[in-house]
Amino acid sequence: MASPPPHEIIVVPAAGQPGREELRQQCYDVRIAVFIHEQGFSLDDEIDKWDDEATHILLRLVPSLQPIGTIRCVKTKDYYKLTRLAVLKEYRQFRFGRALVQSLHDFVKSDAKASGSRVSDTVKVIAHSQIPVKGFYGKFGYVAEVRNLQGEEFDEDGAPHQKMVARLSLSE
Ligand SMILES: CC(C)(COP(=O)(O)OP(=O)(O)OC[C@H]1O[C@@H](n2cnc3c(N)ncnc32)[C@H](O)[C@@H]1OP(=O)(O)O)[C@@H](O)C(=O)NCCC(=O)NCCS
Repeated sequence: MASPPPHEIIVVPAAGQPGREELRQQCYDVRIAVFIHEQGFSLDDEIDKWDDEATHILLRLVPSLQPIGTIRCVKTKDYYKLTRLAVLKEYRQFRFGRALVQSLHDFVKSDAKASGSRVSDTVKVIAHSQIPVKGFYGKFGYVAEVRNLQGEEFDEDGAPHQKMVARLSLSE
């Protein structure tokens, strides 16, 4: 593997904090390039009700500050959800996808520890994986889970997906 170009990973400030809008727009720019232009999803499905409250993570080149990757974390009462993971096509295979998943896991673990209400030593993260990237998620401890009586795969925004679940240890 060629060495990755110099880059930075930023956890976008929470809703209401300075800098959020500009950095979140850079996350959107990556998502639109990958999910709309490359994969053909609709913009109406792409920008959804979770974007306002979610934690967005941005990967960009330095010193140009060109955004090239993103991932989004949605927190629910019972689990966290990994969503909207994308790396621009020309920057794949530099392990940027791995770096973004690890950043999201670090965020989840620190958030779960800080929340103080946990009842177990693990925290649950759910991803709805497109079928061609199930093997990618498998590398990070995600295991396929049957979601409905129709079988393992289900339609989301017009494409087949598979529910995958990871349980992260909080004691490491
Ligand atoms: C999925 C995606 C984010 C991976 O990003 P990436 O930067 O190319 O991935 P990485 O280089 O970090 O890969 C990490 C590991 O996963 C492996 N991997 C990458 N894509 C894979 C795939 N589709 N299936 C199985 N393994 C895969 C790599 O070989 C690497 O393995 P290694 O570290 O053991 O050598 C990228 O392909 C992408 O943006 N795809 C389009 C959008 C998409 O499908 N997002 C997921 C929606 S559910």
